[in-house]
Amino acid sequence: MYNFLYKNNEMDNTVDDEKIMLEDIKPDKNLKILTGDRPTGRLHIGHYFGSLKSRVELQDKFETFIEVADVQALTDNFNNPDKVKQNVSQIVMDYLSVGLDPNKVTILLQSRIPEIAELTVFYSNLVTIARLQRNPTVKTEIAQKKELFGESVTYGFLGYPVSQAADITAFDASFVPVGEDQLPLIEQCREIVRKFNSIYGETLREPVAVMSNKPRIKGLDGNEKMGKSLGNALYLSDDIETIKTKVMGAVTDPARIKKDDPGNPDICMVYYYHKLFSDENTCKNVCEECKKGQRGCVACKKQLIENINNTLGPIREKRHYYEERPKEVMDILMSGTEHAREIAKKTMEKVKKSMKLDY
Ligand code: TRP
Repeated sequence: MYNFLYKNNEMDNTVDDEKIMLEDIKPDKNLKILTGDRPTGRLHIGHYFGSLKSRVELQDKFETFIEVADVQALTDNFNNPDKVKQNVSQIVMDYLSVGLDPNKVTILLQSRIPEIAELTVFYSNLVTIARLQRNPTVKTEIAQKKELFGESVTYGFLGYPVSQAADITAFDASFVPVGEDQLPLIEQCREIVRKFNSIYGETLREPVAVMSNKPRIKGLDGNEKMGKSLGNALYLSDDIETIKTKVMGAVTDPARIKKDDPGNPDICMVYYYHKLFSDENTCKNVCEECKKGQRGCVACKKQLIENINNTLGPIREKRHYYEERPKEVMDILMSGTEHAREIAKKTMEKVKKSMKLDY
């Protein structure tokens, strides 16, 4: 069934047909990839290692679409439209600064594609409320957002998986590269597609979630998750001084008091970050010298700061270029959106024809 997989993986096709690994798909410029983010904050190095780096690789292999999901961001920020608006250009600058090339990828703004909203209405007949309430991602998020929603969640938030199904199908995407937490949303989209096609006739493409085996990046404080609210993130837009302060405050082996005490690098966040930013040889030295008590934490942190800056420096420079040219940033977003809308219009034509709404 999946002729897009490398040959040696074809035997596995039946094992797990709703998600596959990124490494297993053959590059094909005729196939579309769609992914997106809610513009609610600046992107940090968790995003960089978790998804941005692989998007940069994907842009040469597939026709790539990246959606700035501002309408979805409003589902849990309806009371804070300024925040969403401000983060739209910020997130586009983050994309451009890591090397996403507007000549290769289409960056689009959700609210400027009314076909997505229209599809959402059509698809809403194909999903039950109970099914949405059972969606594990939605369930977790509702529990986390008690303060915003109180005892009863909004219709818009409960229904955002339907709108996300519209995002994906509007552009005829074959693949959706996502993290583990998004899998239930892709599964819900696939169910909607199957239901649509079974009622109205074969119309929509059933997308496949693609996973990468990138681990989630821990925070500087050792927390499993890196995030704005946790105050433990390194942002792509952080300047040198900010990086310095944050790394100097990173959690190390608490049992190590004096410089020549032997340390345990496995519980040290500085070593953890060396593994992300430093070469193999450096990591080996860090590990061995720390264990023998031959390496002071301060020197170790300084070396890490330098290596982080070697990676983030060029990104920061590119970001500065765009920060000074806000019009260029918005032009890129708007022309991407225009291109994407042409595709969404074609989908809408097909959908309306199948639903006998083609007046
Ligand atoms: N729900 C995604 C997130 O919170 C963002 C998103 C919106 C998305 N539309 C999408 C992801 C379409 C993949 C495909 O990260």
